[in-house]
Amino acid sequence: MIDLFSDTQTRPTPGMRAAMAAAEVGDEQSGSDPTTNALCARIAGLLGKEDAVFMPSGTLCNLVSILVQTRPGDEIIVDDQSHIYNTEAAGAAAIAGVSVRPLPTRVGLYTLAQAGEAIRPMQRTAPRSALISIEQTTSFSGGTVWDLDTMRAIRDLAHAQGLAAHIDGARLLNAVVASGIPAATYADGFDSVWIDLSKGLGCPVGAVLAGTKAFVTEAWRWKYRLGGAMRQSGVLAAAGLYALDNHMDQLAEDNANAARLHAAIADAPGLAFDETAGQSNILCFSVASLGIAATAFAEACLVEGVRVRAIGREQIRATASLEVDRAGIDRAAAVIRSRAADYSDARSSDKSAGLR
Ligand SMILES: Cc1ncc(COP(=O)(O)O)c(C=O)c1O
Repeated sequence: MIDLFSDTQTRPTPGMRAAMAAAEVGDEQSGSDPTTNALCARIAGLLGKEDAVFMPSGTLCNLVSILVQTRPGDEIIVDDQSHIYNTEAAGAAAIAGVSVRPLPTRVGLYTLAQAGEAIRPMQRTAPRSALISIEQTTSFSGGTVWDLDTMRAIRDLAHAQGLAAHIDGARLLNAVVASGIPAATYADGFDSVWIDLSKGLGCPVGAVLAGTKAFVTEAWRWKYRLGGAMRQSGVLAAAGLYALDNHMDQLAEDNANAARLHAAIADAPGLAFDETAGQSNILCFSVASLGIAATAFAEACLVEGVRVRAIGREQIRATASLEVDRAGIDRAAAVIRSRAADYSDARSSDKSAGLR
């Protein structure tokens, strides 16, 4: 099976497992797990922040960032393709008690003007705009890389209007290797930012959330309150440290593999790509012109041993990771091309009934 479903499907490598087995451990909840402390210090440094906290998941990083920086009844601003808006079981609403304002976008990127219009003036009757979030890279809309100047302009606007600025950096490091811009440069001036360990970095569990010391103190309170505090988490943190030492080149390889897939299927019949396609390790394309649902296209690929993900009715998402090498990408490209050709032929010769 060639698994392009998600970079969350990555499994720890033998080297990572060995590092986990050898980890020095203590009690994370009381701040005395040395390996977790080392990981947090390393990622705080990478992101240019004062402090960081180890979390079981990226979802908890987003939720805790919202909890710390809003009050119930506030509003947060995100893009309409974002993980916060589309998944996370509406945690922002259900647990933080905030309303979520999704800005309409094509590929997860909103503009400074959109942000400006969305921030509400103070009014007795309106929710208070409290936080704005940027997802770097965009997840459901094709791994698009936000431009640094736009991020900074949105950050500055948010601060000028009294909002906190947050980066969902699940795949921030994919943006770093794609653009050559350091993570700390992207994160500069943002109030909260996190990176995921369990995606392209290949760890089994974990994410690290960073900010000021005061932010992390409050984040810790919510982490504990929500049951996210751990004990001998050094076993997990060791995987993160191993990944930072050994898997950064893999992220570059993943980005290159997604670009390779894009090049190989760009002219396949009936597939439509956004102009931003192939910027990092995720490739999205529409199968709408083939006249079939994305789920049907994904199932047809699966029969041929290639697992991709249907996003909504029309979009297919293929994600490169350490689970798929270059030969696997080439095989996946051949399958995707041939399925697209089959559906396209069937459509044009009106033989589609059997294929659908
Ligand atoms: C952009 C983005 N944010 C947040 C998350 C949540 O991360 P986790 O699965 O670690 O909870 C994901 C996971 O896919 C994601 O892609």
